[in-house]
Amino acid sequence: MATTAPTRRKTRTTAKAADTGFSTVAVAGAAAAGLFVGFAANFVRKAIVQAPTALAGDWAEALAAEHKATLALFDRIEETGEAQTSRRSFLLMQLKHALAKHALEEENAIYAALRDNGQTEEADKLNGDHGYVKQYLYDLTVMAKDSPAWIAKVAEFRRRLETHMQEEERDIFPALRHSLSDEQNHELFVAMNKEGLKIA
Ligand SMILES: [Fe+2]
Ligand SMILES: [Fe+2]
Repeated sequence: MATTAPTRRKTRTTAKAADTGFSTVAVAGAAAAGLFVGFAANFVRKAIVQAPTALAGDWAEALAAEHKATLALFDRIEETGEAQTSRRSFLLMQLKHALAKHALEEENAIYAALRDNGQTEEADKLNGDHGYVKQYLYDLTVMAKDSPAWIAKVAEFRRRLETHMQEEERDIFPALRHSLSDEQNHELFVAMNKEGLKIA
């Protein structure tokens, strides 16, 4: 009895270790599969978010489409009443995401191309405007959503943003597009989409 007991214990231990090893492999495999599915799902989600911009085929048209979509979000915010604080928070979150993606595309690709094209003053002015976009988003986040001051701040933000968008669409972006070759415009479009995908 004294000699068989340790052997049985050893056998049990080995079996347990084998079980544990199998479980670890199984869990690791499942985790890896889950991670892959997660990455794939995230890639698909990002591709869907970036699709309207990527399908535009032209960087200036794509950004103009994003401007339009942003103003549509403002419309939805301005339709809310003071009691709809949760909806205001939700729409503000959507606005923040849309503007963060748009800012990355412009600042990391378009404004850099503007400076390389000699439009430094214009690029720096637009970049400065983006600082105030972040200021408005911060103020709207900390202000009480049921206050009349909140929706007044939204209206002021919209007015300033529309002026910024018009400067981009009417003057500054067409000037850049016209001075670049078709190939350079395409390269800029690709670079801009890569930036957008980072935050999509
Ligand atoms: Fe901009
Ligand atoms: Fe813009």
